[in-house]
Amino acid sequence: MSASVKHKYRSETRLVQSGVLRSQFGETSEALFLTQGYVYESSAQAEARFKGEDDGYQYSRFANPTVTMFEQRIADFEGAEAARATATGMAAVTLAMMGQVRAGDHIVASKAIFGSCLYVMEDYLPRYGVSSTIIDGRNLDEWRAAFRPNTKTCFLETPTNPNLEVLDIAEICKIAHAAGATVVVDNVFSTPLWQSPLALGVDCVVYSTTKHIDGQGRCLGGVILGSQKFINDNVHTFIRQTGPSMSPFNAWVMLKALETLPVRVRRQTDTASAVAATLARHPRVSRLIYPGRPDHPQADIVARQMRGGSTLVAFEIDGGKQAAFRFQDALRLVRISNNLGDAKSLITHPATTTHYRLKAEQRAELGISDGMVRLSCGLEDPDDIIDDLVAALKAV
Ligand SMILES: Cc1ncc(COP(=O)(O)O)c(C=O)c1O
Repeated sequence: MSASVKHKYRSETRLVQSGVLRSQFGETSEALFLTQGYVYESSAQAEARFKGEDDGYQYSRFANPTVTMFEQRIADFEGAEAARATATGMAAVTLAMMGQVRAGDHIVASKAIFGSCLYVMEDYLPRYGVSSTIIDGRNLDEWRAAFRPNTKTCFLETPTNPNLEVLDIAEICKIAHAAGATVVVDNVFSTPLWQSPLALGVDCVVYSTTKHIDGQGRCLGGVILGSQKFINDNVHTFIRQTGPSMSPFNAWVMLKALETLPVRVRRQTDTASAVAATLARHPRVSRLIYPGRPDHPQADIVARQMRGGSTLVAFEIDGGKQAAFRFQDALRLVRISNNLGDAKSLITHPATTTHYRLKAEQRAELGISDGMVRLSCGLEDPDDIIDDLVAALKAV
């Protein structure tokens, strides 16, 4: 076995070629190593491997060649020194936070994050003696005021879910680092193609690879990326000892999916941008948010921080929940789902699904109105998607 491509190629070439561990059979497409464990040439080799004196695999909860290929490939694309794959995106988020903190520590999190992430920050971490302050991440003064001497880390998502507002990663990093805290960014909504949080100063990036990285609705997965030191100190042993590891099969699916990620995300982004341009002029649409449009609330930050827009469009249908339901139910091609980042176009009514647990006033603070829907553009012909949306708007 030999690791293949070094960093001499451009980033999108690395998404196809990086990390290959080619077996003695010389396969073109990466092998799927469905094995729990490994055998040793001798007792001495087994001993050396456990002592860390001999490179190689021991047990697939710790590491597996197919999972390593996925980790290496995404690390090379993201510009991270190291990556560890996890069973789901939530495992990645939970581990990235829990791996860093001890009882008595404090964390800060932006409130416009995926519901389960908010649950981890607000409910789970405090159960283990880690207090948290939840703030409006758009307001830098709230970040400045939130850090304490015992603040270990902070967590944010940008663009936000579901409203696609954009937070200033570089400025938040300056504030957090001055306070001695690390920064963890959930980069799911922008994808690694359009935003590189590590280059903006972040210490750790997490993905639900369930979304655009698989991108075809097949497997769950997550990944944590950072410096070798960050991963060694906070993540590696935690995964090894507690076991939220990615399965080799899922890693193989994700590894192969990385090869087509830029082609898919570019096409989905172009479609979303065309949808946004059409719906922004539609009389039944009272508000529309799309990163990349000049009327986006943080257009200046988008221009500084992102290389592309989004595969998602958030918009509000005039007439509240009933109008939004009539619209969704009239769609024929776009399907109702809570998921996103799929080859199939999906629509979500956040107030009654992903964000239904929040109180009405919390939803109002986040700008999640009863008429709001979130569209995740797929790979269908863009004109068919637009025709479906426009026809459904007539039914409202
Ligand atoms: C922004 C974001 N982060 C994290 C997650 C959690 O990922 P998973 O479902 O793979 O656990 C999701 C979606 O579920 C998400 O949308």
